[in-house]
Amino acid sequence: MNPTDFQALMVAPEQPLHEALRRLDGTGRGLLLVVDPEGRLLRTVTDGDLRRARLQGLPDSVPVSQLPGHPPHVVYEDATAAAVLALMDQHQIDHIPVLDATQRPVDLVFRRELTQRIWLSSPHLGEEETAFVEEAFRTNWIAPLGPHVDAFEREVAAEVGVGHAAALSSGTAAIHLGLQLLGVQPGDTVFCSSLTFVGSCNPILYCGARPVFIDSEPATWNMSPAALERAFAWAQAQGRLPRCVIIVNLYGQSADMDALLPICEHYGVPVLEDAAESLGARYKGRASGSFGHLAVYSFNGNKIITTSGGGMLVANDPTLVARARHLSTQAREPARHYEHTEVGYNYRMSNVLAGIGRGQLRVLQQRVIQRRAVFERYRDALADLPAVRWMPEPEGHHATRWLTCFTLVGPRASQRCNALMRSMERHQIEARPVWKPMHLQPLFAAAPYFEHALGHDVSRQLFETGICLPSGSNLSPEQQDRVIAHLRLVLEKDEVNRALV
Ligand SMILES: Cc1ncc(COP(=O)(O)O)c(C=O)c1O
Repeated sequence: MNPTDFQALMVAPEQPLHEALRRLDGTGRGLLLVVDPEGRLLRTVTDGDLRRARLQGLPDSVPVSQLPGHPPHVVYEDATAAAVLALMDQHQIDHIPVLDATQRPVDLVFRRELTQRIWLSSPHLGEEETAFVEEAFRTNWIAPLGPHVDAFEREVAAEVGVGHAAALSSGTAAIHLGLQLLGVQPGDTVFCSSLTFVGSCNPILYCGARPVFIDSEPATWNMSPAALERAFAWAQAQGRLPRCVIIVNLYGQSADMDALLPICEHYGVPVLEDAAESLGARYKGRASGSFGHLAVYSFNGNKIITTSGGGMLVANDPTLVARARHLSTQAREPARHYEHTEVGYNYRMSNVLAGIGRGQLRVLQQRVIQRRAVFERYRDALADLPAVRWMPEPEGHHATRWLTCFTLVGPRASQRCNALMRSMERHQIEARPVWKPMHLQPLFAAAPYFEHALGHDVSRQLFETGICLPSGSNLSPEQQDRVIAHLRLVLEKDEVNRALV
């Protein structure tokens, strides 16, 4: 509910019955909040209360505070959606006011919201997936190989302008194989962006190697060239250059490759581009994922296109991709009997899922347009809230806005973000903090970390002050309006925002 509609629900205790009825009709919410002069909730008045008062023959002039009724059912700001729903069920009511610690109403939760969850990023099928999957069934290609796998590889490679592709069971599997292809051995070090999902760097541990984490830069939220320079200088001084650098392209936006790649080239260290979140994005006219020696995409269920689960490894070097296919099918040597000379994996994508992927790939460009439109709608609708800073998209970048993300500026941003996400959760709106950086994860507590500038930990700041909003290409305008209205309700009251206006 937006702040104006919410304010319209407040009435004074002396408001006469007939005026309250008119107000109730005007708001169309079936509920008024009777508040004292300090704004504290005294009671609620529902359609039913007013109708019963009429039936009992109470005069139109009777003040609402004197209507028969019971103390209101309320929750406080820390209440979860489940607790609110339980209270609704217990008392058979459809709306519950939320009070702050001073007993003032700050929000109102409706039952219908609680049954219509808004997801962060849910799968969005096109029209051709079913036909491809049916074809796989009809032709009995229900295997981790088949014509859809081959075609999906060719089509992804063509889409991103890279020579070759290997379809795999997940993005994480693709990174694991990518590290092996680049020769990562036990005891090696691998540089990796710190601000990412753990799938980027768990494979470093699978290889028995040690991660070194690199901070983000404020301009792209991706790997900081300054931090990368310092990490390389440190590694060289130790006589231990990393075996490779994993550069992550977050939230549908490429890292600043023109600044990062020459540094890696200078030290002769190859780049594995983790483009799991950035299929469809472009940087200086080229596809995200076309810059590294190898790159990886994910088709996990929340990605811009999905195969329900899957990944793709791409490279211009055909021998690398052929080797990825070999390793992903248990490293079987070409012999009639099963012959093995090295460790392999069961990492191949199935022909059925590749069929879904082919259908999805046909709508990729449409999905980019839709996700960008979702972002633009948020940005325009909330343009007058100065505490909100959107993830930047620098010149030369064309992001997909896979997720719309923003940070809150000002003091206590972390607490304010948490309060905002808690209140969204209470309304069944899924929002997430920006990734918790890997250097802050207990799993990687011992790993070295290089900040953007000394004393300036950008990724930590983004984590503490950043929020990802529901961003799916299938988010309806009505759902987005619900998110926008709720953000307004909370942020217009945010003290820092008010001070900045
Ligand atoms: C940046 C990043 N890297 C790697 C992965 C791993 O991909 P998957 O889930 O397909 O294993 C993901 C997402 O899931 C991701 O967001």
